[in-house]
Amino acid sequence: MSTALITGGTSGIGAAFAQTLAARGDDLVLVARNADRLSEMATDLKERYAISVETITADLAVRDDVIGITERLSSAEQPIDMPINNAGFGVRAKLTDPDTTPHEHAIDVMIRAVLILSAAAGRTMRQRGAGTIINVSSTAGFVTMGVYSAIKAWVTSYTEGLANELHGTGVKVTALCPGWVRTEFHERANIHVGSIPEFMWLDADRVVAECLGDAAAGKVISIPSKRYAVMMTIAEHLPHRLMRAVSRRLTSSRH
Ligand SMILES: NC(=O)c1ccc[n+]([C@@H]2O[C@H](COP(=O)([O-])OP(=O)(O)OC[C@H]3O[C@@H](n4cnc5c(N)ncnc54)[C@H](OP(=O)(O)O)[C@@H]3O)[C@@H](O)[C@H]2O)c1
Repeated sequence: MSTALITGGTSGIGAAFAQTLAARGDDLVLVARNADRLSEMATDLKERYAISVETITADLAVRDDVIGITERLSSAEQPIDMPINNAGFGVRAKLTDPDTTPHEHAIDVMIRAVLILSAAAGRTMRQRGAGTIINVSSTAGFVTMGVYSAIKAWVTSYTEGLANELHGTGVKVTALCPGWVRTEFHERANIHVGSIPEFMWLDADRVVAECLGDAAAGKVISIPSKRYAVMMTIAEHLPHRLMRAVSRRLTSSRH
């Protein structure tokens, strides 16, 4: 019997992790802000899969809420085998906007919370000598498109560092780097997606299935789908100034 803790487990990629893991019989701890949605999701998964589902209503932008989750991650009696740091959102604000609070909020949720929760999980799991940490990053971290790219570049780099630190302890660590996935993400961030070609879109269930396979195989970076794997390999081998120029064109087409 295995238990996963999923931040942002009520929608999109997090909900797909919840469904997939529930279907294979894993117990779940779901974390998000919307208590009604958490409760609906928990009831549905418990009824359909006869698993245990705990919920934690928390805002990951609030440090005390994050510290509360570390207590659940550190429990020896009810161990978490797979923490999935997934909660996140898009940020459209420009880097030079006078109000930097949207950037700071994004850093709190997608950097500070990931740092604190991964550290707590890593400490406990190292003692047990087992477990898998998954941090949801993005292919946006391979380009330079504002604060969101910078945050996701941090998540990928941080996760690689964590994998090194935990190497040989029995704890596996994976950064999931998806491309465009159909979820509530774009609507919530007011991102116009009309110009994104159909072939660029990924299905959340397939992203999750591929990620879980990669994590089980000990892959540190998971880039779901052949097409994105090829695109990211090309991106890595292009001269960096060319990547910056492409990023500049893409950014200006969005504003
Ligand atoms: N969709 C894409 O194209 C794409 C591509 C690459 C990477 N990603 C990454 O995938 C992850 C999941 O995104 P998604 O596309 O599945 O988005 P989504 O459908 O909008 O789901 C976001 C989830 O995060 C939760 N959440 C947001 N802010 C939170 C906060 N402050 N505290 C606690 N929970 C919070 C939301 O629940 P509440 O609102 O109830 O809190 C929701 O469950 C993110 O890290 C995103 O950056 C997405």
